[in-house]
Amino acid sequence: MKISIFYFSGTGNTWWVTQKIKEIFGEKGHLVELYSIEKKDLNWEELLPIILNESDIIGVGFPVYGSRIPFIIRDWVKNTLCLFSQKRKKKIQAFVYDTMAMFSGDTPLLMKRLLKKGGFQVKQAINIRTLSNLPQMKSMMTWEKEKQKKIFDNAEKKIRKFVDKIIKNKKWLMRRDPFTRFVAVLQRVTFIWEENRFRNLFTSDSNICNLCKICVE
Ligand SMILES: Cc1cc2nc3c(=O)[nH]c(=O)nc-3n(C[C@H](O)[C@H](O)[C@H](O)COP(=O)(O)O)c2cc1C
Repeated sequence: MKISIFYFSGTGNTWWVTQKIKEIFGEKGHLVELYSIEKKDLNWEELLPIILNESDIIGVGFPVYGSRIPFIIRDWVKNTLCLFSQKRKKKIQAFVYDTMAMFSGDTPLLMKRLLKKGGFQVKQAINIRTLSNLPQMKSMMTWEKEKQKKIFDNAEKKIRKFVDKIIKNKKWLMRRDPFTRFVAVLQRVTFIWEENRFRNLFTSDSNICNLCKICVE
């Protein structure tokens, strides 16, 4: 099988998970190509029709932000990936994974819905626990190396199961229960407000950005 994965990673957790997925597929003799959606030198208009034509299955990975999909990948999937896939007659199979620190609600299912509108058929949508990247929320942080290792070992176990389900074409859709959805909606409502507040406070000009990271501080 040829698999193409499109991902966004803010601080490296999703990148790590994505590399693991590639490694495990590789062990089983499948070819995986990875595409960071942030790469500016990629010409999607030219590339996507070729990638979609050549792939047996595609994957989409991202971190969860307040039980939501980060706007950077949400917008890209909506306005770029789905635009090209809609031109195809045959439905393309897809899988979705998000990375989280504690609770991602039904976020993978939100991406599933988005992809479905773009003509994809999503059979697997899961979340994978990694580390928190929110140091301002102290209780969520895991500094001890031993605990970090345990979290990543468990993540790897889950990724192995995930890859196995994809290869066997078996469904795995997590977090469909009403309670999870309810809590996720509550979290989303507060997060949307926060997200808009911060988006209005900080802007960046990609033409002059030199990646100094002062804005991150
Ligand atoms: C703005 C923001 C919101 C977040 N919201 C959540 C959340 O709702 N639930 C959760 O478990 N983790 C949350 N996190 C933690 C990240 O989802 C988690 O650390 C993720 O693995 C980071 O992936 P990355 O390193 O690929 O960016 C949030 C992180 C950020 C920066």
